[in-house]
Amino acid sequence: MGKIRIAIAGLGNCASSLLQGIGYYKDLDGRAAADMALGLMHYNLGGYLPSDIEVVAAFDVDVRKVNRPLKEAVFAKPNCTAVFFPNITDIGVVVKMGEIHDGISPHMQDYPEDRRFIAANEKPCDVIKELRESGAQMLLNYLPVGSERASKFYAECCLEAGIAFINCIPVFITSDPLWATRFKDKGIPAIGDDIKAQIGATIIHRWLTKLFMDRGIHINHTYQLNVGGNTDFLNMLNHNRLKSKKVSKTEAVRSQINHPISEEDIHIGPSDYVPWMNDNKVCFLRIEGKGFGNIPMNLELRLSVEDSPNSAGVVIDAIRCCKIALDRGVGGAILSPSAYFMKHPPEQYSDEDARRMVEEFIEGKRER
Ligand SMILES: NC(=O)c1ccc[n+]([C@@H]2O[C@H](COP(=O)([O-])OP(=O)(O)OC[C@H]3O[C@@H](n4cnc5c(N)ncnc54)[C@H](O)[C@@H]3O)[C@@H](O)[C@H]2O)c1
Repeated sequence: MGKIRIAIAGLGNCASSLLQGIGYYKDLDGRAAADMALGLMHYNLGGYLPSDIEVVAAFDVDVRKVNRPLKEAVFAKPNCTAVFFPNITDIGVVVKMGEIHDGISPHMQDYPEDRRFIAANEKPCDVIKELRESGAQMLLNYLPVGSERASKFYAECCLEAGIAFINCIPVFITSDPLWATRFKDKGIPAIGDDIKAQIGATIIHRWLTKLFMDRGIHINHTYQLNVGGNTDFLNMLNHNRLKSKKVSKTEAVRSQINHPISEEDIHIGPSDYVPWMNDNKVCFLRIEGKGFGNIPMNLELRLSVEDSPNSAGVVIDAIRCCKIALDRGVGGAILSPSAYFMKHPPEQYSDEDARRMVEEFIEGKRER
């Protein structure tokens, strides 16, 4: 079925895990299919294998990444995620200087250099030209939370270059009807917004919430507190950048509650930065409710995961669904993959329904 040519904006920990994962699954090509599907919906999804994904263009703004070969840049500081496949190959891609806009938060200045972003003193490249000349079919947005202007800049570049957009971060583009219409008018697919990890805080909180609803428990209060030590958590110490992240994570859970719950009774968000944790993320979750006879009950859960590889398999599936939409000439927001793979899709469904919809989309029984 051919290669899937992608461009990436933001070569942080998530991009590192994605590239390592593509290499890792390529290496496993000879083994039993069941082993190969760990963290993926299907090893062969709609005729595409993980190894069909090829990065043809990459943009960053950090001095330790710009102008370096992609295969080195994804291991450069301040990246700190687990290295499970060090010998990744690339096709000779060199990282280009993107446009910074609001990508780097000023508060990072107060932290050690090997922990934070350092802007390169370089002239930005012509992103649209790079996208066109590289032959990229889609761009992945992996910028820091709160990069509103920068994300919209890269989305505009996709519209101009005529390539698809996968938005892994909580800036509302695919889920904004105005942006979705612009992608539809140009016949370009978009999947978003804000990637949902394989077994992360969001999907667990959604499933537990749905279980409480299905079993007739009324939820009175719930919280989800997350801590970690990567640049994603350092960036999110600036609460001005968190607005859409909180909306995205809260709506993902609230959409599963079938009764009104006030803002005060549902608290979800990143809570602190603990440097020594690196890319380990810990989630503390509590749900309080009332069951039969109005009797109170509560549940506490602690989840510990390596943050970045946790979403890389989901991204590999999103990329392959995006390619299917391109092959079929379908433009605009691709609803089923967005609902299953993303926290803030244009339309929310239960994860069970969304997964079924994605299967139907892959089989061609559903257009988007
Ligand atoms: N880990 C997960 O499971 C998960 C889940 C949902 C969302 N996300 C989101 O994905 C995004 C990427 O996460 P990460 O852990 O890789 O972040 P990161 O902090 O490790 O990397 C961000 C990268 O973007 C670069 N950058 C900053 N401004 C830029 C610009 N204007 N143009 C190009 N590059 C720029 C930085 O130099 C850095 O390399 C974050 O917004 C995160 O919240 C991650």
